[in-house]
Amino acid sequence: MYYYRSLRPSVFTQACESVRLELVSRGLRREHRVLDIGSGIGNLAISLVDFLEGGYDGIDVHPEAVAWCQRNISQRHPTFRFHRADLISGAYNKYGQMSPAAYSFPFHSRIFDVVFLGSVFTHMLPDDVEHYLLEIKRLLRPGGVCISSFFLLSDQARGGIDRGTSFMSFDAVHTSGLCRLHDAATPEAAVALDESFVYRAHAKAGLEIREIRRGVWWSGVMHDQDVVTSYSEDSRAQALTHAQV
Ligand SMILES: C[S@@+](CC[C@H](N)C(=O)[O-])C[C@H]1O[C@@H](n2cnc3c(N)ncnc32)[C@H](O)[C@@H]1O
Repeated sequence: MYYYRSLRPSVFTQACESVRLELVSRGLRREHRVLDIGSGIGNLAISLVDFLEGGYDGIDVHPEAVAWCQRNISQRHPTFRFHRADLISGAYNKYGQMSPAAYSFPFHSRIFDVVFLGSVFTHMLPDDVEHYLLEIKRLLRPGGVCISSFFLLSDQARGGIDRGTSFMSFDAVHTSGLCRLHDAATPEAAVALDESFVYRAHAKAGLEIREIRRGVWWSGVMHDQDVVTSYSEDSRAQALTHAQV
């Protein structure tokens, strides 16, 4: 698919390896249950089939990507399941039935230890992102972790965009004022979200951002993204910790 910018199998293998490392380095364990939102052609699932025992659910709006993963991954590894969400995305599912901002993920609350979104919030508009974060909070077990990548509009990133060094132009400001778009005609083609909005949306959902690994996509050097790690606040555990102090 075009988002790997190459048809070479080694590029895909490398993407699988690096996403597994990303999650394991942030605490993923064998017994965890994982939700991969925007699972694409299954790079995370493929990297985890020999490791994960707690179960994996991938969900995506792209019908062919989901069907491919069901045929090629789930048939051999039934604890790896893929689901289709028929949601509107100008870039990936133009004729979807429903706005992402109105969607309830088809899972019980508090059943996932890790939720991952690799290069998905980079294709979503602010109202949709805000709603997904509320849903992620609902789906995570207390203390569970959400790892998601963004193009974060920090002062530094804005500087790069203004100087024209960003790998995409991001020259259109969305009507919300909360993000910049690479292509105003297809807003979801690439979305850079205002960093303070991303902080507010996490806080509103009850997700505490504890780490941001900064990408330099705005610099002209690399195309990498910013990776945000947030935790579902566990008020009961916090209360216990405070009581023990
Ligand atoms: C750039 S690809 C990334 C795929 C995969 N996560 C990876 O890292 O290779 C973005 C994926 O997000 C999916 N997507 C876009 N909008 C979505 C939404 N609102 N909900 C779920 N998936 C979405 C697309 O169909 C596509 O598969």
